[in-house]
Amino acid sequence: MERVLDRLEQLFALGGGAGANRPGLSRAEQAAHDLVAGWMEEAGLRVDVDPVGNLVGRLHGARPDLPEVWTGSHLDSVPDGGRFDGALGVVGGVEAVSLAAAGGRHERTLAVVAFRDEEGSRFGRGLFGSRALCGALEPDDLEQRDAGGTTVREALAGLGLPPPDPAGWLEPMPAAFLECHVEQGAVLAGRDAPLGVATGVVGVARGTAEFSGLARHAGTTPMDAREDALCAAAEFVLRLRDAARAVGGVVATVGRIEVEPGAVNVVPARVRASVDVRAPDRERLDAVLAAVPEASVHVTEPVPMAPGPTGALRDAIAAGGRPAVELVSGAGHDAMVLAAAGVPAGLLFVRSLAGGASHCPEEATSADDVGLAVGVLAAALRRLAA
Ligand code: GLV
Ligand code: MN
Ligand code: MN
Repeated sequence: MERVLDRLEQLFALGGGAGANRPGLSRAEQAAHDLVAGWMEEAGLRVDVDPVGNLVGRLHGARPDLPEVWTGSHLDSVPDGGRFDGALGVVGGVEAVSLAAAGGRHERTLAVVAFRDEEGSRFGRGLFGSRALCGALEPDDLEQRDAGGTTVREALAGLGLPPPDPAGWLEPMPAAFLECHVEQGAVLAGRDAPLGVATGVVGVARGTAEFSGLARHAGTTPMDAREDALCAAAEFVLRLRDAARAVGGVVATVGRIEVEPGAVNVVPARVRASVDVRAPDRERLDAVLAAVPEASVHVTEPVPMAPGPTGALRDAIAAGGRPAVELVSGAGHDAMVLAAAGVPAGLLFVRSLAGGASHCPEEATSADDVGLAVGVLAAALRRLAA
């Protein structure tokens, strides 16, 4: 698995900084796509780029008329992210498709897909490439802005891409999608299991809450005469935390706050806070959101993984004599978008080290576990493509 780890290291180094820095629809993400396109060609895959820049590498099967079998993940990262989140599923996918094909004749075409802007840490919503493919973009998705004011529409134009067809281009539908991903949690390590399969992915509500006040002199405006937007936002952050705790099984995060005018000696007049709430079912998600009516969010519904692909992964793990631990994914993944669009999807997790740390440079897994994951992914792909 040295080649996989070496390639992950090359991707990790692309954007500079203390960790992986490949924001969605950025130059660094493009550089990652260019590198991986080269690796796909080296592996004999036919490379295509779709209308939003998702990268697809195909290895033709004996029956190209049959629906294809896909694997893959994303190549963008959070700021100062880790080596494995997303990239493992793409780089490991190229390796697994090659391995699957080396095992003999396969009927269905095998494809590796690298989706654009999964994280959403730049424009807010994420899962952009897979949602565009599946016709699941919201009408205002292209007008979402990054911190510098650039819209998704402008970022696409910067990559030479016109606005995509809102209906998507998932026809013909693939027969299955398998996503291999680092677990990003400590369940597998706790069970002493290198690999696991997700039964489903939590629902994710992402958005913002905005607060307004009055910009006034910090030295001359008495405390009881202030309208301080940041104090209102602070109350909001704690109310959101308390609601998530009270409902249970829900996580809620305010990870970014923008304060205007943003001066030490001016009462804050405007605050924009990010909101990220996740729950295994829509009822609990809605119960938390009800406590924070100021939040305006976009919801990606919780979704179960499909029995066929999940069974193929579970059997491939069991064939190696290992337990196939089942867990619910608390992280969002492109697989949830494809599943919601009707593609039978399965999600393979690889044990995280470092206490499950992820979305940080400390994210880790072992070379042995990566090797096992690629083998299992190849076996499952072979079965689904047979
Ligand atoms: C993606 O990694 C997410 O779940 O935030
Ligand atoms: Mn990911
Ligand atoms: Mn991530």
